[in-house]
Amino acid sequence: MPVRIAAIGDLHVRSEIPAGLADELTALHQRADVLVVAGDITDGGRIPEVELAASLFRTVALPIVAVLGNHDRRCLRRTEFRRILESAGVILLDAEATILDLGIRVGFAGIGGYGGGFWPDEGPFLLHSRVSQALALRARREAIRLETTLAQLETDLTVVVMHYSPTATTLGNEPPQKYWMLGNSQLGRVIDRHPVDLVIHGHAHLGNPTGQTLGGIPVWNVATTVPGGPVIQDVAPRPKPRGGQFHAGIAR
Ligand SMILES: [Fe+2]
Ligand SMILES: [Fe+2]
Repeated sequence: MPVRIAAIGDLHVRSEIPAGLADELTALHQRADVLVVAGDITDGGRIPEVELAASLFRTVALPIVAVLGNHDRRCLRRTEFRRILESAGVILLDAEATILDLGIRVGFAGIGGYGGGFWPDEGPFLLHSRVSQALALRARREAIRLETTLAQLETDLTVVVMHYSPTATTLGNEPPQKYWMLGNSQLGRVIDRHPVDLVIHGHAHLGNPTGQTLGGIPVWNVATTVPGGPVIQDVAPRPKPRGGQFHAGIAR
C-alpha cells in the first residue's frame, strides 16, 4: 500500500511567506499523508523567522517530519528554535528516528548531514590539507550517527530525511567546485547498507529533482527552487533482498 509523501526543502523563511505557498500547504492534507521538510527552514536561523515558519506549519493538517539545515544552524538559541518548531507539531529529527502509522508503518530517520564531497565515488577531488581532513572527520561522524539511527528502524517503509545530499546524481547544475559543500558519499554508503526505500534531501538549490545512491536507492532533491513547490508522490516499499543481505556496520 503506497503512502502519499509530500516534501519540501529550503523554504529560507525571512519576513514573509509567499501566498501561493501558504495556500498550497494549507490544502496539502487533501493530497498527502505526511509532510517532510528537508532543512533550511529559515534563512538566518533567527527566532522571528522560525516563529513565522511555525505559524505556517500550524496550518498544515498533517504530521510534519523535519531536519534542520545549515542556515537554521546559524541560530544561537538552538533549544528555543527547536521548541518553537515542536510547539507547531513538527517532529524534528537530529540523528533520531520516528515511526508513523500511515496505513502502514513508516519509519523516518532524520539527520542534517554534512559536506565533504563525493570523491572517489562520484565527484572530483578538489580539497587538500586541513580543510579536507576536518570535513572528512565531521562527515564520518554524521555517517556513524545515521548508521546508529537506521539500525533502530524496522518498519514497512523507511525514509531517510537529510539536508545535505548523499549522492552527486541530484546535483544537476551545481558546479563541481561546490560539491564539497553539498554532501558526501559516506552518507550514501550507510543508506545502501540498510533497507531504505527513499531518501529526501534539500540544500542543492541548482540540482535536479531525482537521482539514486550508488546502491540504487531513489533520492529526491526537494530544495524548493528545484521542483518549484512541494513534491507529492505515492511511495511504496521497494522489494528487499531476502535473508538479511543488508550489512549494518560503521561507515568506512
Ligand atoms: Fe538552502
Ligand atoms: Fe543548505
